[in-house]
Amino acid sequence: MKIAIGSDHGGVELKDTILNFLKEQGHEVVDLGCNCKDSVDYPDYANDVCDKVLGGECNRGILVCGTGMGMSMAANRHMGIRAALCVEPFTAKMSREHNDANVLCLGGRVIGPGLALEVVNTWVATEFAGGRHQRRISMFSS
Ligand code: RB5
Repeated sequence: MKIAIGSDHGGVELKDTILNFLKEQGHEVVDLGCNCKDSVDYPDYANDVCDKVLGGECNRGILVCGTGMGMSMAANRHMGIRAALCVEPFTAKMSREHNDANVLCLGGRVIGPGLALEVVNTWVATEFAGGRHQRRISMFSS
């Protein structure tokens, strides 16, 4: 799978941990920054990752900021992006099965690396169930 990943300064450490994990799993990962702890504006990175997903260059996106909140708000402004802010694997699984989430958001100051990688692993591996869930998604993302 080809995955675009981005963060702000609050999420850069976790972003790099996820990046290495996904590469080890054999995924192609496009790192859109940031790449240091200098203060940056998270919407810039949310927009870049969403553009890669909406443009078809990447299958899915992952965004990390301090809480995951700003990234999820910014990402969900894009029509066609269904961004899910997850702190545990069950929600991550359901965000794929029921909501066909195409962007995963995480909080680098909220969740530790071990749990974050479980969330990422579950989210990447889970397929959309379709059926009635497709009808519901179509009701808000024409
Ligand atoms: C940056 O300090 C912080 O506001 C940002 O990482 C994020 O948590 C916003 O939602």
